[in-house]
Amino acid sequence: MAKITYIEHNGTEHVVDVANGLTVMEGARDNNIPGIEADCGGACACSTCHVYVDEAWVPKLPAKEAMEEDMLDFAYEPDVEKSRLTCQLKVSDALDGLVVRMPEKQI
Ligand code: FES
Repeated sequence: MAKITYIEHNGTEHVVDVANGLTVMEGARDNNIPGIEADCGGACACSTCHVYVDEAWVPKLPAKEAMEEDMLDFAYEPDVEKSRLTCQLKVSDALDGLVVRMPEKQI
């Protein structure tokens, strides 16, 4: 279980507990948090689950796979360091306290 803070582009914060084994995208979807659209349902094929990870968390997350790296090129205003696709981030105790910010829009 990890407590994850999702911050909408307008500053609205949502702090939710997400079960291990789900993805960060599924945590948002299951809690009706706006700002993560996840059009492809988590197949790493749409880039509409894009977020900016809080700076402190960037080095703590597993490295991006090539497919995530490629899809991020299609995201709205991706950041080389902070951008991640939330469908590719598996939740575990190690992610407890994670903070992610939604972009102004998904493509
Ligand atoms: S949900 Fe489509 S790339 Fe993550």
